[in-house]
Amino acid sequence: MAAAVSLATSIAGVSLSSCLYNASGPLCTTAEELDAIGNSEAGAILSKSATLEKRAGNPEPRYFETPWGSINSMGLPNEGFQYYLDYASRAEAFAKPYIMSISGLSHQDNVDMIKALAGQKHIAAIELNLSCPNVPGKPQTGYDFEQSRALLQRVFEHVSLPLGVKLPPYFDLPHFDMMAAVLNDYPLAFVTCVNSIGNGLVIDPESESVVIKPKSGFGGIGGDFIKPTALANVRKFYTLLNKDIAIIGCGGVKSGLDAFEHILCGASAVQIGTQFMREGTTCFSRIARELGEIMQQKGYADITSFQGKLRSLD
Ligand code: SIN
Repeated sequence: MAAAVSLATSIAGVSLSSCLYNASGPLCTTAEELDAIGNSEAGAILSKSATLEKRAGNPEPRYFETPWGSINSMGLPNEGFQYYLDYASRAEAFAKPYIMSISGLSHQDNVDMIKALAGQKHIAAIELNLSCPNVPGKPQTGYDFEQSRALLQRVFEHVSLPLGVKLPPYFDLPHFDMMAAVLNDYPLAFVTCVNSIGNGLVIDPESESVVIKPKSGFGGIGGDFIKPTALANVRKFYTLLNKDIAIIGCGGVKSGLDAFEHILCGASAVQIGTQFMREGTTCFSRIARELGEIMQQKGYADITSFQGKLRSLD
């Protein structure tokens, strides 16, 4: 009989029985959706990014699926900070980490939410979203290195839980160095690479129209198309960041092979977004099974056996 493999991982001392869980975005807005993740094989429950107040988000249609992925301009529809804080005690029933994503509309909102999270024992970690491309008039903080530094400086005066940031994708090599120089100055638990690629445009040539309503059709691109960009970001930050900052891969994961590639580039855990939206919670068990089979074939007993060990040709 083949030896069992373990998909367990740990992020900043928080143990996950599976390295696969949901991306903050699809199907994690309501308590019922979060319960479904809790009842699945996902290794953690990650909430929709909370703003201080409840938000309806952008006008619909605001999500569109294509054969290669998706475009969205949701605009952070969410139930508001208090709702996701209250959910934490309900999440206890699932015996897996509950991670709260926050995305304040201002630095002050982020600081206020971080202060309110101090000492919340049912919350395993905070993912601070620096990269939503969909709120009209609000640039992505992660593309402004000085703003990112200013925000982290304030946040780390108050944070008491493990805190990570969700980054936008970077494309230019000097930008990786510049952002890494900022991130390495703070005791981050993790960085999540990457949010959707903003701002793309999908059109329907038949109707000669855009496919989503907000922002004249512009929105964040997810799915197969973004995997090479996501892998590049995971790899670059894995090599540039302090070794105690874990990398969480996100982007283009729809199979065990995709998750394997993220881990090979250095990811300690892998989030699933577009494919979760498409398939529902069974994606966590299916992708776990596929990843386990690949590991078994290659003789890897656990993810640390191959994590970050990508070979180069030079
Ligand atoms: C959204 O709600 O617009 C998507 C969340 C994100 O991209 O951060």
